[in-house]
Amino acid sequence: MDELILAIESSCDETSVAIVKNGSTILTNIIASQIKSHERFGGVVPEVASRHHVEQIGYCIQDALEEADVSPEELAAVAVTKGPGLVGALLIGITAAKAFAWANDLPLIGVNHMAGHICAARFVTEVTYPAMALLVSGGHTELVYLPAEGVYEIIGETRDDAAGEAYDKVGRVLGLTYPSGKKIDELAHKGKDTYHFPRAMLNDDTYDFSFSGLKSSFINLVHNAQQRQEELDQVNLAASFQASVVDVLVTKTIRACQEFPVQQLIVAGGVAANQGLRERLAETIKTTLPNVELIFPPLKLCGDNAAMIGSAASIERKKGHFADLALNAEPSLAF
Ligand code: KG4
Ligand code: ZN
Repeated sequence: MDELILAIESSCDETSVAIVKNGSTILTNIIASQIKSHERFGGVVPEVASRHHVEQIGYCIQDALEEADVSPEELAAVAVTKGPGLVGALLIGITAAKAFAWANDLPLIGVNHMAGHICAARFVTEVTYPAMALLVSGGHTELVYLPAEGVYEIIGETRDDAAGEAYDKVGRVLGLTYPSGKKIDELAHKGKDTYHFPRAMLNDDTYDFSFSGLKSSFINLVHNAQQRQEELDQVNLAASFQASVVDVLVTKTIRACQEFPVQQLIVAGGVAANQGLRERLAETIKTTLPNVELIFPPLKLCGDNAAMIGSAASIERKKGHFADLALNAEPSLAF
């Protein structure tokens, strides 16, 4: 019998409800974005996010069931992101999931948001193990080794800012609205790396990252130019910033894939939508590791969505990992 899981994601600024079949087929994936409400503040305001989740969650659940033409009795489980994320935002999804599970007598599964991002790859192809994942989002930058299904080992992570966070902070200095990753990516494609920003920790022997030095040198350059009333080339600035981020991400990821016995490399999280990163990784893998299969989830599954949570939940269900009604938000949850 097919396994249908209703999944809920509310860890940040998207209220999303999906129904996923057998861990790898999306029947529906409703995403109510709040970006317009946060744009004016230049970032996500946690209290505003929670209030929007409260307004949206009921409609999203109802719409998902209607769109997929599924009744609660047909579901195998209800899954929800338990962390990491904003505590108030997480609690709205968790409370809705508990209520829905209890009312319909369904098992409840708590899912790690980052495992969810990795599982977005399962909508593209079957994941074979061991695999490596580069997780790049607004809150995280991590290299994760997956020796087997459902096993996640962090081998390196950012010591300060996440890659997406650096994009958003730099974008603010350029006068771009939040989130600015995609806008910088588009500008970067029209420019060249003329400013040569630093590439922190590029050649050290860890798999860790650091983006705060890059962010500071970018901001200093722009502020100094403003004081001297000098014009900087926006397009080349974006291209130079992106070249630095991509260089470090690609170099460390390739080294990790050379040193661990992996068959696949999964790139996931909001920054996995970056065209510059996609192109450089594809080229480098082809020439240095032709036997490693590179998997990028489709653009619409790179950002936060509930389908990826439904897929990760399917693995948890197979392992018999269920939650009870005491399930709580874990804002700093690691793997
Ligand atoms: O995974 P995600 O949707 O939310 C978090 O869990 O953080 O990632 C959002 C992040 C933002 O920082 C956004 O600026 C960045 O992903 N992002 C991009 C691109 N599209 C989104 N960064 C670089 N290039 C892009 N094309
Ligand atoms: Zn995310």
